[in-house]
Amino acid sequence: MKILIVYYSRTSNTRKVAEEIQNNLDCDIEEIIDTQNRSGILKYITSGFQASRKKLTILENIKNDPASYDLLVIGTPVWAGNISTPIRTYIHQNQAKFNNVAFFCTAGGSRFDGTFSEMTELSGTSPIARIGLTAKEVKDESYKTKITEFIKKIQI
Ligand SMILES: Cc1cc2nc3c(=O)[nH]c(=O)nc-3n(C[C@H](O)[C@H](O)[C@H](O)COP(=O)(O)O)c2cc1C
Repeated sequence: MKILIVYYSRTSNTRKVAEEIQNNLDCDIEEIIDTQNRSGILKYITSGFQASRKKLTILENIKNDPASYDLLVIGTPVWAGNISTPIRTYIHQNQAKFNNVAFFCTAGGSRFDGTFSEMTELSGTSPIARIGLTAKEVKDESYKTKITEFIKKIQI
């Protein structure tokens, strides 16, 4: 099965998870790059506003064609209870090319259901696996056990 991990990360929690998944799956990986600068407190507030209003952004060109993969593993941080704006944009622009999908999210807290529901709706397909990880789990490395379970579901 040909697998691509696609993720956005502002402060590297989601990147860390994406890279851990890739280490276990030996698949392709693509970081989504936003053209908007999102560093600093003012941009944090703007980003939360954009996410809650379900706005889109302009992304750098993507490198991999999602249609050429059997499975896309899509990762996003939770922003204001929503999908991050860059991943919303990616799904919006590419969902017609998705075959199977799996999702992962990182968040400061532990509420992921709303974000997963929206990712499912926007993708137009139900995920074969999903995993939500708190920023604390990512920092203290306890996320690795959960990732093992996630990967087992993907490989069925
Ligand atoms: C604009 C913004 C809004 C956020 N909103 C939430 C939220 O509603 N709920 C939550 O649990 N965490 C929220 N967070 C925290 C992030 O989801 C969390 O730190 C995540 O792991 C960051 O991933 P990253 O390091 O890959 O960017 C928010 C972070 C940002 C930047």
